[in-house]
Amino acid sequence: MSVHIGAPAEPATPASPGTTPPSPLYGGELTRRVTIRDLQRAKERGERWPMLTAYEMYAAQVFDETGVPVLLVGDSAGNNVLGYADTLPVTVADLLPLVRAVVRSTRRALVVADLPFGSYQVGPRQALRTAIRFVKRGGAHAVKLEGGHRVVAAVDRIVEAGVPVMAHIGFTPQSVNALGGYRVQGRGAEADRVVAEAKALESAGAFAVVLELVPAEVAARVSAELTIPTVGIGAGPHCDAQVLVWQDMAGLRAGPLPRYVKTYADLRGSLAAATRSFGADVVAGRYPAEEHAYT
Ligand code: KIV
Repeated sequence: MSVHIGAPAEPATPASPGTTPPSPLYGGELTRRVTIRDLQRAKERGERWPMLTAYEMYAAQVFDETGVPVLLVGDSAGNNVLGYADTLPVTVADLLPLVRAVVRSTRRALVVADLPFGSYQVGPRQALRTAIRFVKRGGAHAVKLEGGHRVVAAVDRIVEAGVPVMAHIGFTPQSVNALGGYRVQGRGAEADRVVAEAKALESAGAFAVVLELVPAEVAARVSAELTIPTVGIGAGPHCDAQVLVWQDMAGLRAGPLPRYVKTYADLRGSLAAATRSFGADVVAGRYPAEEHAYT
């Protein structure tokens, strides 16, 4: 069993008069890369933080410059970048260049690479090999994988090798077919299973656990019982951190959105308006104008 970073939990250290309080994780003074120790300390201080997915340079730069401490190169690239209906077809070869791009484009964020479906389910050895590939070839600072008890041995193996692991339980999109669709997990008697899985993953050495589509009270229980941070997506307000797919957060995705999504911009509308203006200018001969031409 690995030594896990979260236990025993150190008591929060309030800043005494004359000392500088710890810099907040989100948007703080930190000029180096965020580490899993920073995330652990934030949990101990009771400080919440945002996490976003990122798949390419400009978006990653914006998130990094605004101080988002953790960026996930998710296999959600499948249905947000690569044009698939879900995450199942995504491969390591698909994600590696995106991980490299996000690492190269950021200076502060801890970059987590998602292990895609089929790249770790065969067993702990395969999981470790894939994790090492993302660290060596992608420059990832940590990896994420989906599942509860069935991936505990893999988490233990990867952590032993020195690679931080973010766990992911509740609704796990790579198991969408087995779970019978996009459904809330952990209602009623199932709540104890979610809590037990989270604890087993913490004991195996995970530095954080994503809780996706679980009832808010269950996420609150997990967050209170774990010493490592919980990261919610559709898991209510009591998690230590919240993650969204960036295109959902910024209003780029079309169609109906899940209930948990809050959109903070209308990028789809802005992009459509810009595209229409460009098209109209070209058709009317207004673009390029004199100032856009070379002599
Ligand atoms: O791939 C992904 O984007 C994720 C997050 C939604 C947690 O797993």
